[in-house]
Amino acid sequence: HEEFTKVKNIATIELGRYEIETWYFSPFPPEYNDSLKLYFCEFCLNFMKRKEQLQRHMKKCDLKHPPGDEIYRSGTLSMFEVDGKKNKVYGQNLCYLAKLFLDHKTLYYDVDLFLFYILCECDDRGCHMVGYFSKEKHSEESYNLACILTLPPYQRKGYGKFLIAFSYELSKKEGKVGTPERPLSDLGLLSYRGYWTRVLLDILKKHKGNISIKELSDMTAIKAEDILTTLQSLELIQYRKGQHVICADPKVLDRHLKAAGRGGLEVDVSKLIWTPYK
Ligand code: COA
Ligand code: NA
Repeated sequence: HEEFTKVKNIATIELGRYEIETWYFSPFPPEYNDSLKLYFCEFCLNFMKRKEQLQRHMKKCDLKHPPGDEIYRSGTLSMFEVDGKKNKVYGQNLCYLAKLFLDHKTLYYDVDLFLFYILCECDDRGCHMVGYFSKEKHSEESYNLACILTLPPYQRKGYGKFLIAFSYELSKKEGKVGTPERPLSDLGLLSYRGYWTRVLLDILKKHKGNISIKELSDMTAIKAEDILTTLQSLELIQYRKGQHVICADPKVLDRHLKAAGRGGLEVDVSKLIWTPYK
């Protein structure tokens, strides 16, 4: 039922101190479709067609951070967990906003079924959204991430890898392996490839003796298939006597690690205060 061509409607948005050019179509309610620009409240994510409306809104909006629980704080970085069922309008607003930068993902209007993890940079004016990922409350397919976005002004600074690392830290606390929902965008795949490569090769470098894909999966919460495809793409897997064998020549590992880019911002697990959704 997806239409084939959808003309980009909203060309720019204002969000906090940024004016941001959009990338893709997003299905805002019809009354917004004659606007080239939308004005978002950076805290509750309500959107408006006119600057004066936003200015009036900012005088009465009480929020200074996303709704929901702050589950992580380290320095100026915070993560908030927002339950789509308890904060339906926020969840929907976030989906409208995110779709402006996501090509092929179908939007889930059923935000009830999702948790949203909002990454913020905090200062004396409040907690400003940098990016987020969404996660199904219950996933049959062991998805630990549905959508991921770093807002364009914040991209390429390591926040994407932070969000990915965070999604795996949640999976570790759940005692489950996880994998991102497919399809991934080109930038999404690049970010995941970089993350998987760095995490796995760091372990292989330090490890003495044999290690299996299952053990790597248990240590990292990365799904075995993703470990296999990552190591295969790096040509670190050989198939001997009916078994996959990981070859870990230190020089080869160092070369791949260099090519995998920067590590991104670290998640300090000691600062994560969270219990899995029940
Ligand atoms: N050109 C080339 N490589 C890029 C890139 C770009 N513009 N942006 C990211 N990458 C690659 C790099 O390998 C980068 O690592 P490096 O900087 O160490 O080389 C890696 O991705 C991750 O960079 P990072 O800074 O941690 O990620 P980010 O904060 O820019 O966020 C996404 C990455 C995917 C979340 C972001 O690009 C985004 O929001 N894209 C739009 C939404 C989307 O496509 N989401 C995924 C589909 S669900
Ligand atoms: Na979505």
